[in-house]
Amino acid sequence: MTGSVFPPETRKVFAAAYPAAPAKLTHTLLGHDLLTVEALVSLAEALPADEIEHNPGALPIGIKPADVPKAALSVSETIRKIGEAGSWVVLKRIEQVPAYREFLHAILSELRDLVEPQTGAMMQLEGFVFISSPGAVTPFHFDPEHNILLQIRGSKVMTVFPVEDEAMFSAKVHEDFHLGLHHRNLSWFDGYADKGIPISIGPGEAIHVPVKAPHWVQNGDEPSISLSITWRSDWSYAEADARAFNHVLRKVGLRPASPGPFPARNRAKALAWRVMRKLRGAA
Ligand SMILES: [Fe+2]
Repeated sequence: MTGSVFPPETRKVFAAAYPAAPAKLTHTLLGHDLLTVEALVSLAEALPADEIEHNPGALPIGIKPADVPKAALSVSETIRKIGEAGSWVVLKRIEQVPAYREFLHAILSELRDLVEPQTGAMMQLEGFVFISSPGAVTPFHFDPEHNILLQIRGSKVMTVFPVEDEAMFSAKVHEDFHLGLHHRNLSWFDGYADKGIPISIGPGEAIHVPVKAPHWVQNGDEPSISLSITWRSDWSYAEADARAFNHVLRKVGLRPASPGPFPARNRAKALAWRVMRKLRGAA
């Protein structure tokens, strides 16, 4: 890949925000060969079937039998007809295809000098492509990864909420999430609305989404293609492991303090959890 994906001004904005604050960024990936509709169809064909989440299209409630399509659209057809399909496709862990692995690593390597002094080694680099019809909604949820969502085609509004706000979600919800006991979708209460910051992005724009910042997404009136580039870090693993350790303390009747927000490192509890996990594994 030639040239920088993130212009100097965006690097400054990212550096000031990372890792705790959301930020609107810009990128230069428009028109990239690996992000055309035909390239994404080939990517979908190359990925293992279980790495593709595919909603093949909604039918209206009232439809004449003769008008019912013979079969649901295939993933390739859904991608090609995303404008009218009333559907969405997620291509997961695109780094399994060598050209996309190189692409993802090249993009993220541009940020390494800004990321690693703050949160330690960049690990588990993963990329996802979201292809969605006009108006699609992604429900309220949070994710364990550092994430930048780059808009390639169409527009969306992501409403982002404060990180680690235990007034919104109890410590127990955080702990269950890290232990895989809580679905990533979060309960929504209308009282939350005022806490969210809506960030709109169009082609050439991007959003930095902090680890576990709750968010929901509304697509605009055009078909949308977005690329999500994600990584984990020493810091994000330590927070997750400290949450897991707190879960154990809570089970024995203690009321542990929650992990501190960045820049707290949460090393002691993370270490305790790792030792405990090892002992359990050895038992
Ligand atoms: Fe997300």
